Amino acid sequence: MNAIRYPDGNVLLRNLSREFPVVTHGEGVYLYDAQGRRYLDGSAGALVASVGHGNREVADRIHAQLLQVAYVNGTHFTTEVTEALAARLCAHAPAGLRRAAFLGSGSEAIEAAVKFARQLCVERGQPQRTRVITRVPGYHGNTLYALSMSGRPHYQTFFGPLLSEVVTTPAPYPYRCGLEDYARDGAAHYARLLEETLQRVGPDTVAAFVAEPVIGSSAGAAVPPPGYFEQVSAICRRHGILVIADEVMCGCGRTGRFFASDQVGLTPDLLVLGKGLSGGYAPLSAVLVREDHLEELRQGSGGFMHAQTYLQAPCMTAAGVAVLDYYERHDLVAHAARVGAHLQRRLREVLLPLPHVGSVQGVGLMAGVELVEDKATKRPFPRTRKVVEGLLAELFSRGLVLWPNTGHADGTNGDLLMVGPPLIITEPQVDELVDLLARGLTRFLERS
Ligand SMILES: Cc1ncc(COP(=O)(O)O)c(C=O)c1O
Repeated sequence: MNAIRYPDGNVLLRNLSREFPVVTHGEGVYLYDAQGRRYLDGSAGALVASVGHGNREVADRIHAQLLQVAYVNGTHFTTEVTEALAARLCAHAPAGLRRAAFLGSGSEAIEAAVKFARQLCVERGQPQRTRVITRVPGYHGNTLYALSMSGRPHYQTFFGPLLSEVVTTPAPYPYRCGLEDYARDGAAHYARLLEETLQRVGPDTVAAFVAEPVIGSSAGAAVPPPGYFEQVSAICRRHGILVIADEVMCGCGRTGRFFASDQVGLTPDLLVLGKGLSGGYAPLSAVLVREDHLEELRQGSGGFMHAQTYLQAPCMTAAGVAVLDYYERHDLVAHAARVGAHLQRRLREVLLPLPHVGSVQGVGLMAGVELVEDKATKRPFPRTRKVVEGLLAELFSRGLVLWPNTGHADGTNGDLLMVGPPLIITEPQVDELVDLLARGLTRFLERS
């Protein structure tokens, strides 16, 4: 089997009009398909494969745990491996976060975090706090409530009547903020917009404010202006609103710090991890909560009212422990910071002079490249031209995999590419990635 195209096979393919190569194996930052083609995985899938592909050190550790015990239910038992993962994460987490629950996906973990915040409000005698504030652009997942929280109108088509009301406020987005000096004025500007949003809906009706410390694919690794999280956290604290950090994409070393919150001066009330935590070796996400908040629930109803079949399951947490061990043994976060600085520099040097490259931004091994029709006015390409899809196909044919996003510029138009390779990538491999991207982009723009 070399490749699958609908109507081949029985898998409900994500795209019914393109061909899917069959991947046979991976090694480090590379994937290989059944036709012997090699791909540089420049986005670690969807910024997942933190420790690279075919990582034997990690796989062997998980294998050993699976032979010991793969599954117990969180209602009955705990396991050493799950306790170890919680202890390891909480030891270094932002202040106060001392308890962790483990689930299978980012969407589940975000929803669990929101439920925790809501339960805490009710137990505090504030049942009127029914609202959640999220930011646009932003993304928090694809299950119904997580989708409601995501500023992606095109994902919401068809599902409107099933979604919940979520209040939104603008997220700091340097390229399209309209400010003269984003670094100088951004924090006060976006903090004021949040305060206005809160005054409009009534701050005492809000349970939680949810934000990605560094925005993922919906704004191409947008970094907040200095002081932003200090200011919005102060506003939330003043109004009794809990702050949830969504580090599903930007966490686990991606930005050059293990917790992206530390990178941007955020001390959240709840913190959510996913993706890189298991590096793709098992489905795994985590919700970290404050010890004092959990104690409030214990003294109230007795604990957090949430469970799912795979909550705390050792088959998942084994992947987390194996990945954290690998991080430590190979000093991977420091490596990501070092090689990430090289990636950021090379992307800016090589891509920014090219026509139609509007912006290159990011931090660590997380970068976004925005393409526009007109660089002077920042006018996006019309969505009908499907620019990022065409570019992706060109890059794919050259053996480079990146992650696309569309629609961020005005809700419909906008073409973004995310670069987020495995954290194990080396500087020469970064050079290879940037070279493949620049050549593919140049060729694609010449042709279109
Ligand atoms: C910031 C962020 N939050 C949540 C999610 C949802 O995670 P999952 O797809 O594992 O449900 C994603 C997925 O891309 C994400 O980037």
